[in-house]
Order: sequence, then structure tokens, then C-alpha cells
Amino acid sequence: MLIGVPTEIEPGERRVALVPETVARLVKSGTAVRVQRGAGHAAAFVDAAYEAAGATLAPDAAGVFGEADLIAKVQRPNDAELKSMRAGQALVAFLSPLGDPASVERYAKQKITALSMDAIPRITRAQSMDALSSQANIGGYKAALLAAEHLPRFFPMLTTAAGTVAPAKVLILGAGVAGLQAIATARRLGAVVSGYDTRAVVKEQVQSLGASFLELDLGVDAAGAGGYAKALTPEQETRQQELLAQHVATIDVVITTAAVPGRRAPLLLTEAAVVAMRPGSVIVDLAAETGGNCALTKPGEVSVAHDVTIVGTTNLPSTMPYHASLLYSRNVYALLQLLIKGGALNLDLGDEIVKGTTLTKDGEILHEPTLAALAGSKS
Ligand code: NAI
Repeated sequence: MLIGVPTEIEPGERRVALVPETVARLVKSGTAVRVQRGAGHAAAFVDAAYEAAGATLAPDAAGVFGEADLIAKVQRPNDAELKSMRAGQALVAFLSPLGDPASVERYAKQKITALSMDAIPRITRAQSMDALSSQANIGGYKAALLAAEHLPRFFPMLTTAAGTVAPAKVLILGAGVAGLQAIATARRLGAVVSGYDTRAVVKEQVQSLGASFLELDLGVDAAGAGGYAKALTPEQETRQQELLAQHVATIDVVITTAAVPGRRAPLLLTEAAVVAMRPGSVIVDLAAETGGNCALTKPGEVSVAHDVTIVGTTNLPSTMPYHASLLYSRNVYALLQLLIKGGALNLDLGDEIVKGTTLTKDGEILHEPTLAALAGSKS
């Protein structure tokens, strides 16, 4: 079996799907790996390291797509990449099926076996494969660093010869994987940190990191299935926006990470909330790519509105490509161990993880949430 690793071509994407450490493990277990020259370069993994790990190098993308049995990518393939794939070939990447269900129809039409890293069920047995978590962790860390960079104040309290400097007040909205890492990082930088979430269960997790938990009386615990949140009703959403607008007037940095699976990011900070914030305050909106938690976020940009800096930078994991690739590569390896049997791809669809991750096989769409989304869009 041959696994191919092409260079990521999405603008701004610096990660690579497999790093030399994983290549060495695959090669040792009898799986050959072919890497496009320069594929790991932007993430600081050089060609010589891949060769030393036992990979062969392909001069271009065609040399990878044309020969591999399975293509390992980070971003989903674009049209040109898809055109160079053939029937029976397998694909592992962040395919975001619910963001674009029609793309899954194309994989089926081309008889590609499509496996989506973001569809892996979030159960205990799949933790080592959980690429959503490994990348969200990096996003949360980087969000706190970006906030510190853009804030015209110190994060920590300082006692200096010129007098005492008060610590920055940082509020994290959404205390999932990214939010908890943002809390931990802002705390390490010395800020006074509070966290908020609509799932009451995370209160203890926020407090265990040394932050306080912000309670907003919405009259609901929005805990949903699988550890995710349920969407609020329009009335609860409006109430939340009003309460947050009052609260953020006392905060220097707001990092927003709120998400509800399969939906646009919830709107937490209205323009009125931004107006209420003090000049020089900073909002880092980790949900910029999925609609934004702040009404004034410009995806992919750092902008200033009402004297508040709003960081809408997208794909934060790619700004730390070495560790983002290393962890993603280990996630992919853990999944491959489940998929490769006797030197070939062998999908046991009776396994909950394999079933949840497989979007298409033999020309058929197997992923139930995608089928439901397609049925919904056509009815
Ligand atoms: P996510 O990215 O879907 O959402 C981020 C956070 O936003 C969540 O904590 C959610 O409750 C919160 N949120 C949604 N709407 C909100 C609103 N209107 N206001 C404020 N906050 C709002 O979720 P993520 O971070 O990917 O995972 C969430 C949880 O899933 C984790 O905390 C954990 O409990 C569970 N999980 C379990 C895993 C496992 O068992 N293997 C692996 C990963 C996560």
C-alpha cells in the first residue's frame, strides 16, 4: 500500500498531513509513503528528513496523486486536485462534509473512498485521532498570544519603579477545547481571566484552570449530545447579547470560541457591545471562519472598530505549522492503524469510528449526517 502526501495548496496553509516521525512508523509497519518535494517545508520538515524516515520523494503533485492508494491531506482537495484522483483511491483530510454536502456527492461520483478527520466520533477510544481537538488546542493558545500582541497594555500585574501596573482582564466566551487552552495561556501570561459557556458542566473546568466562571442568567443549560452545545432560542440569544454587552465594558480582551456543530457561529458580541468596550480593547474571534461570534469581525483581517481591535485571522493552527502538523500527523496515524489491515485499506463499517468517519465508498454516500443535510437541501 502506498500513501501519498501532496503539498497543501490552499492559500496560507502551511501544515503538512504527515511528518517524518509518522512516516518512519508507517514504513516500519510495511506501508510505503511518497511525499511531494517541499511538502513539509513551510512546517519546518525538510525533504531530507522524509527520505531519512524512509519516504520516496515525488517531483510534483502528479507524482503523488497518480500513484498513491491513499492521499493524506490537511485541507480538502480543490477541483484540480480532485480531477487528478481516480476511482478506488482513498482520501483522508478535513473534508468538512456538513459545510459543503455537495462536495461529498462529487467524491461518491468519482468513486473515491473519502474519510473525514472532522467526522471522527468524539468518543474516548478515538481521542488519539481527534484532529479537531489537537488543532483547536493550538487555535486557543495562539488566540491568547495574538490578544497579548494587539493589546496596548501588559497582561500581568507589574510592580515597577514607575509604579504599579494593573493586570489585563481577559474574558473567554466558549470554554470548549480552544477556550480552555486560551484560558490556560492567558493565565500563564498573568492576566485576570474569566470564562463563560452555555454548558454549565464546564464551570468546574474553567475554575480548575484558575479562572472565574461568568454566570449569565439565560434560564437554560445548553448542553447537547456528545459534549457539544445546543443552539439558543432567538430570545435567549438576544438576552445573552444584552448581558454580554454590559459585562464586556469592564474587560480588556475578549476571546470568542463559541460554536454549535453544523450551524453558523452564534452571535455573542453585537456592535453595541463593541461600542461599550474601552478604547484599545481587543477581541479575538476564533469563529471568524464560520460567521464570527462578533458582528464586526472581518474574516482573515485585523480591523479596528469604535477604537477596539478585532482580530479575525483565520486558520490559526496553520500559523504554528510545526506542532500543528506533528499532532495532526499523529491523529492521522492513529486512524490509519484502524483502517489498514494486512497491508491494505480494509474498512470495517461495523466499527463506530470507521462508520462515522467514512463519507463515501464504492460510489455511495455512507455518512448519515451528510445524507440528512442533502435531503434537507433538496426538499
Ligand atoms: P465547539 O467548538 O463545538 O464549541 C466551543 C464551545 O462553544 C463549546 O464549549 C460550546 O458549549 C460553546 N458554545 C456554544 N454556543 C455558545 C454560546 N451561545 N455562548 C457561549 N458558549 C457557547 O466544541 P469543542 O470545543 O470542539 O468541544 C466541546 C466539548 O466536547 C468539550 O468541552 C468536551 O466536553 C467534548 N469533547 C469530548 C471529546 C472526547 O470525549 N473524546 C473530545 C473533544 C471534545
